[in-house]
Amino acid sequence: MNGPPPDAVGRLAQYVLIPRIAAPGLSVVALRTNHDPAVALILVLLIMMALNYLALRYWTLLKRARRPLVLVLDQGVALIALGLAGLGTPMVLYVVAGGVLAGLIHRARPVLAVSLAGALTYGVLLVFQAGYVPGGSDFHTTITLPALVLAAGPAGVALRRLLNEQERTASQLWKLRRTAAVREERLRVARELHDSLTKDLHGVWLLSQTLRSSLERGDLRSAREAAGVIGETAEGLAGQSRVVIQGLRENGSSSLVQALQERAGVAIAGHPLSVEVHDERKSPRAGPDAAGRSTMLAVTSEALHNVVKHAQAHLVTLTLAASGGEVVLQITDDGRGFDVSAGHPGHFGLLGMTERANRSGGGLQVTSSPGMGTTVRLVLPGHG
Ligand SMILES: Nc1ncnc2c1ncn2[C@@H]1O[C@H](COP(=O)(O)OP(=O)(O)O)[C@@H](O)[C@H]1O
Ligand SMILES: [Mg+2]
Repeated sequence: MNGPPPDAVGRLAQYVLIPRIAAPGLSVVALRTNHDPAVALILVLLIMMALNYLALRYWTLLKRARRPLVLVLDQGVALIALGLAGLGTPMVLYVVAGGVLAGLIHRARPVLAVSLAGALTYGVLLVFQAGYVPGGSDFHTTITLPALVLAAGPAGVALRRLLNEQERTASQLWKLRRTAAVREERLRVARELHDSLTKDLHGVWLLSQTLRSSLERGDLRSAREAAGVIGETAEGLAGQSRVVIQGLRENGSSSLVQALQERAGVAIAGHPLSVEVHDERKSPRAGPDAAGRSTMLAVTSEALHNVVKHAQAHLVTLTLAASGGEVVLQITDDGRGFDVSAGHPGHFGLLGMTERANRSGGGLQVTSSPGMGTTVRLVLPGHG
């Protein structure tokens, strides 16, 4: 998920500084080719260029200097420079960009006052035809440019408000998305706990009732049996909770093959068993969605748990393939196999795997016969 939105006003203000660096330089060129400017004026323009470059470079420092005095000084210097250079130079662009910048940084009232003062100063400069003013009475110089000088500040204020508004909306949206993701995650945890632990815990409770009544009857044989099943179920539950915890820890950042290897490694740890993972996908990006991925990893844990517990195998092979919008994982062991058609009442591992696969829009198939090893084949919808 993307983070909260970045500082759009700040970024725009930095862009506005670029014409403020260019305008004094271009004015020097314009003046030197058409007019004979004073050396002092050229120096002032070059210093203005450098100051604006520094403002761009150390923007974060400048952002803190949001005082009306800074605003008045900045626009004051700009207007004096405009007067000396002339309305026919790109310094007009400097004043306009300054107005937009002021609107982005400062509060509305001082900005409007400074814009008005700017337009009035422009009028005075026009009357006196100060500096270089080739088109002294054309429409562009008498109407368009002063209108721009007047409008720049309010335009900056409007832009700032618009961007801030948009930023607020984006940040609210981001918060909502994050809340939804947390909620989704909670539901997933609840589902995981319900699916893998609650059923078996209830079974343990029922068995403990049986154990108690057997003991009360003095039937030690069935009491021993019940105690044995309680022990086995509890062991299974410990394994299941490990799977759930691993699922919660898994953050989806590792590749699918890495995650499968990791799961397999944990499941067979301490057992004389080797695991091989074969990746037959054409693209490493092919795989199930996030929910499918967690199903695939949970099925891997459960299937390997069965291999360790029942198969007496030496080698387990995990083969991952993808084609035609489906992702297939096959988990094959070379163990003793079992009769798939025989029911296993009171055993929920295979059933749980099938239910998980179905819930993710896929399916699970177990192929085995005594002496022939076992293959668990999981098919999930996928991409790539
Ligand atoms: N890989 C395997 N190799 C041999 N037998 C298996 C294998 N997987 C499952 N079985 C058999 O299927 C039965 C049911 O498995 P399962 O539903 O996972 O329950 P549980 O593991 O609690 O016994 C197991 O008791 C076992 O007899
Ligand atoms: Mg099992």
